[in-house]
Amino acid sequence: MKTIHVDLGDRSYPIFISSDLIASKTAQTLLADSIRGKQVMIVTNETIAPIYLKKVEQLLAHEYQVSSTILPDGESFKNLDTLNQIFTSLLESRHNRTTTLIALGGGVIGDMTGYAAASYQRGVDFIQIPTTLLAQVDSSVGGKTGVNHALGKNMIGAFKQPQSVIIDIDTLQTLDKRQFAAGMAEVIKYGLIWDSEFFKWIEDNIVQLVSRDPDTLQYAIAKSCEIKAAVVAEDETEKGLRAILNLGHTFGHAMETFGNYSTFLHGEAVAAGMVMATDLSERLGWLETGITDRLKKLNQQLNLPNSSPEGMDMDDYINYMSVDKKNLDSDIRLVLLMGLGKAIITTEYDKVVFESTLKDYCS
Ligand code: NAD
Ligand code: GLY
Repeated sequence: MKTIHVDLGDRSYPIFISSDLIASKTAQTLLADSIRGKQVMIVTNETIAPIYLKKVEQLLAHEYQVSSTILPDGESFKNLDTLNQIFTSLLESRHNRTTTLIALGGGVIGDMTGYAAASYQRGVDFIQIPTTLLAQVDSSVGGKTGVNHALGKNMIGAFKQPQSVIIDIDTLQTLDKRQFAAGMAEVIKYGLIWDSEFFKWIEDNIVQLVSRDPDTLQYAIAKSCEIKAAVVAEDETEKGLRAILNLGHTFGHAMETFGNYSTFLHGEAVAAGMVMATDLSERLGWLETGITDRLKKLNQQLNLPNSSPEGMDMDDYINYMSVDKKNLDSDIRLVLLMGLGKAIITTEYDKVVFESTLKDYCS
């Protein structure tokens, strides 16, 4: 078992990473250590419930009043109506202020359960059991929670740190290939923004990663969590540094919005967006040449995209990127690289080079 600590004073918590965990005595002990009351509500979805719900329920049934809420699956259900289903279940089963919510699923379940925990009876505890690679390396760590609004993604939410994050690597064996690759985009991101050695390690181990070798995955997940924990510990509520975690995301959000969230998965859009951010950094002379090609090669090996969705043009990018949450005024703020493993957040870049990069990635 690998344990990482997220250091946030009285909101600090551990991340446990291991194989063969979700139905084990060890998981039972880890859960018990994080649960303060006698009531537990597991929140999951229709896809994950048949595979994993019983296993988690069985760990808890002897000691706690356990209820479960099974939500419909999909980003389109990450909204206030679905959130209300969680509150209704909690109230119907008479959960009180000492209850603990358990998020069993990917980022959609984690974000919604965390936000439910932030607001149910003005705040109760929650635990993350992430089951997608994206959730294990990114969304379950750092306390961003929330739901989408018809007028914008993740526009309603709160910072709410979990009591613990329990990661069973074996849950990734049931994840489909496309979702796995989308999570790998976020793993690669950590190498690009923070740790050049880790980027090199990913290149050297890409075959084992694609075949989901447990030891290789454990290292990649632990390293990713370590980097995310370090960034979040410095800037929990994204006053500055934390925005580097969004490398490629401003380009990617534009692609997701253009495709109405049905062309690219989030991680796929991030993969293509990171290529654009890296290429722009090279063109500006800030990053040594060759990194973009290395990134494109990794993306190819994972079957991730290296360019924009069909039909998207430069004006689409400018329009969608102008409304990004990271912008503080009218300028488009970008995360760019000043070297491999060194990210900055800036509006100070040559707009002509920026526009010509956008053009080159449009068909
Ligand atoms: P997701 O939660 O939609 O999961 C992807 C699909 O995989 C779903 O169909 C799900 O049911 C299925 N699934 C999950 N685990 C499985 C398993 N082990 N076996 C088989 N199928 C499984 O998507 P995601 O990529 O995990 O998360 C995306 C969400 O995360 C977005 O809403 C995004 O906004 C959010 N996010 C949040 C943060 C944060 O910091 N809070 C960071 C990144 C992304
Ligand atoms: N996924 C970006 C963040 O947690 O800040």
